[in-house]
Amino acid sequence: MTVKELIKKRRTIRKFENKPISKNQLTAYIEAARLYPSAANLQPIKYAVIADKEMTDKVFPTLKWAGYLKGEYTPKEEEKPTAYIIVCVDTSISKSNYDMDVGAAVENIILSALEDGVGACWLASVDREKLSGIIALEENLTISCVVALGYPAENPTEIQMQNGDVKYFLQNGTLNVPKRSLEEIIIKAL
Ligand SMILES: Cc1cc2nc3c(=O)[nH]c(=O)nc-3n(C[C@H](O)[C@H](O)[C@H](O)COP(=O)(O)O)c2cc1C
Repeated sequence: MTVKELIKKRRTIRKFENKPISKNQLTAYIEAARLYPSAANLQPIKYAVIADKEMTDKVFPTLKWAGYLKGEYTPKEEEKPTAYIIVCVDTSISKSNYDMDVGAAVENIILSALEDGVGACWLASVDREKLSGIIALEENLTISCVVALGYPAENPTEIQMQNGDVKYFLQNGTLNVPKRSLEEIIIKAL
C-alpha cells in the first residue's frame, strides 16, 4: 500500500485479535519512530515496549477507551491489545514544546504498524502516575501517551460529519467516525 492508501485506511482500532505481534515488528515500529522530524532536532522521546501478558494485563487498567461511548466500547478480555508502546519524554533533554514531536513519532508508529496489518489506538487518557509505577519509570522520564497495538478485530468506517457532530457512534456493530469535509477545512483554496 502507498502512504496515501495507508493514511486513508487508518482508523483507530479498539478491538483486537488474540494474536501476538513479533519482537521484530515492534522494533521496526520504534525504528520508524526514531526517524521522526524533531524541533531543534532534540529528539527527546523514548519508548517502553510492553508485549508480555503479565505486563499488558497491568497496563490495561490504566487506560480509558472511547470516551464518547462511556465505557461501552472498552475492549473485552478477548479483545485486548497484545502490545503497548508507552511514549515518554526525557525531560533532561527537553522540558517544553515536545507535543508536536510526539505527534510525528506516534503517527510514524501507527502507519508502519498498519503496513503490517497491525491496528492501533493512540491513548492520552492514561493514569500516568499509576503507569509510571508499573513500568518503574526513571525520574527524568514522563509519560506523554500510549499506543495500544494488535491485529484488528473490528472495521471502523469514516463517514462525513453531519451538523458539526464530532462524536463517533456505533451503528449495527460498526464504529462510525465522522470526519470534516475537504470544503470545510480548506480556508483558502488555490
Ligand atoms: C492525542 C490523541 C489522544 C487520544 N486518546 C484516546 C484515548 O485516550 N482513548 C481512546 O479510546 N481513543 C483516543 N484517541 C483516539 C481518537 O478518539 C480517534 O483518533 C478519533 O476518534 C478519530 O478516529 P480515527 O482515529 O479512527 O480517525 C486519541 C487520539 C489522539 C490523536
